[in-house]
Amino acid sequence: MSQATPYNATLIEREDIHDALAIFKFQLDSGQELDFKPGQYTTLGLVDPDAPPPNPNSPASRKKGPRLIRRAYSIASLPKSKSHLEFYIVRINEGKFTRLLWQLKPGDPVFMDHKIKGTFTLDGIPDGKDLVMVGTGTGVAPFWSMLNTYRNTGRWRKLILLDGCRYIKDLGYYDQLTRIADEDDSIIYLPTVTREPDDAPWQGLRGRVHGILEPEQFAKLTGVNLDPDRCHILLCGSPQMIDQATENLGKLGFITRDRDHPDGNIHFERYW
Ligand SMILES: Cc1cc2nc3c(=O)[nH]c(=O)nc-3n(C[C@H](O)[C@H](O)[C@H](O)COP(=O)(O)OP(=O)(O)OC[C@H]3O[C@@H](n4cnc5c(N)ncnc54)[C@H](O)[C@@H]3O)c2cc1C
Ligand SMILES: NC(=O)c1ccc[n+]([C@@H]2O[C@H](COP(=O)([O-])OP(=O)(O)OC[C@H]3O[C@@H](n4cnc5c(N)ncnc54)[C@H](OP(=O)(O)O)[C@@H]3O)[C@@H](O)[C@H]2O)c1
Repeated sequence: MSQATPYNATLIEREDIHDALAIFKFQLDSGQELDFKPGQYTTLGLVDPDAPPPNPNSPASRKKGPRLIRRAYSIASLPKSKSHLEFYIVRINEGKFTRLLWQLKPGDPVFMDHKIKGTFTLDGIPDGKDLVMVGTGTGVAPFWSMLNTYRNTGRWRKLILLDGCRYIKDLGYYDQLTRIADEDDSIIYLPTVTREPDDAPWQGLRGRVHGILEPEQFAKLTGVNLDPDRCHILLCGSPQMIDQATENLGKLGFITRDRDHPDGNIHFERYW
């Protein structure tokens, strides 16, 4: 019995933003086109080099093939680009999966789950609201997909995107987002950096996103009031950021959307 290949997809392109941040594009080998909603995610997998090889004396083990390390990734591309999926990924120091991912070059095989998952979408948010999207690091990925998919459709009154990163070089979509916000009055882009030295060539905001989410500061920067009747907040990335923002926003009357609060106006995706 031949051993099943664990791979079903191919890396077709990678764009390295810096040595630890990149955009990866994958295509299913079957040619299947994947339907998804902006904000959803899927799973990538690579063979675990530390796993014991399949037992040659066990047909079940041989059929199963080598063990994969799997990780979830938000889809950064647009649903209309059906031929491939794009992901925006940071390489974690000592990270088990991203260490392997960084070794890949175009043409290399991977596992990409064709089952798309997740409820972190704009479903259930009425048109014409103010949307406040808050990402830390690569947490901007689903917002990139949402923003580009729904631009110019009347989906929001104002969209404010807070993009919190350590360094300027980590703002991977900075040029494109700045240009889009310049062209589109309904979009406000607020990048903020936390670790740049004082003399860095940066005129923008500094500090963690919470400072910007202070109601007075937020209104001053955006002209929009953080009003629970008008705003929906979407948080993505660091779980500590999500917990702290949820607590602070709760004091303003925002409610986390969950089974008991289907009309809640805080939506989140934790990356770990
Ligand atoms: C629904 C979902 C969507 C995700 N989407 C993305 C995405 O679009 N891009 C992406 O880069 N990651 C994303 N992640 C995280 C991703 O699944 C992996 O956890 C990450 O790539 C690290 O894998 P690793 O094996 O290299 O590191 P691990 O050995 O798993 O190390 C994990 C540790 O690294 C830190 N960490 C993990 N992910 C991040 C991150 N993105 N930014 C900063 N620190 C992190 C945490 O401290 C965590 O404990 C997502 C996670 C979930 C659950
Ligand atoms: N960024 C790089 O240049 C770089 C280079 C090589 C490797 N890496 C690897 O990448 C990993 C992830 O780095 P990352 O910079 O993408 O993600 P990150 O550590 O999640 O940081 C992204 C942004 O989120 C902020 N943040 C962290 N915790 C927060 C909280 N509780 N509330 C609000 N904001 C919070 C950070 O601020 P603070 O700065 O205040 O924490 C930073 O501005 C690192 O652990 C490292 O292994 C990164």
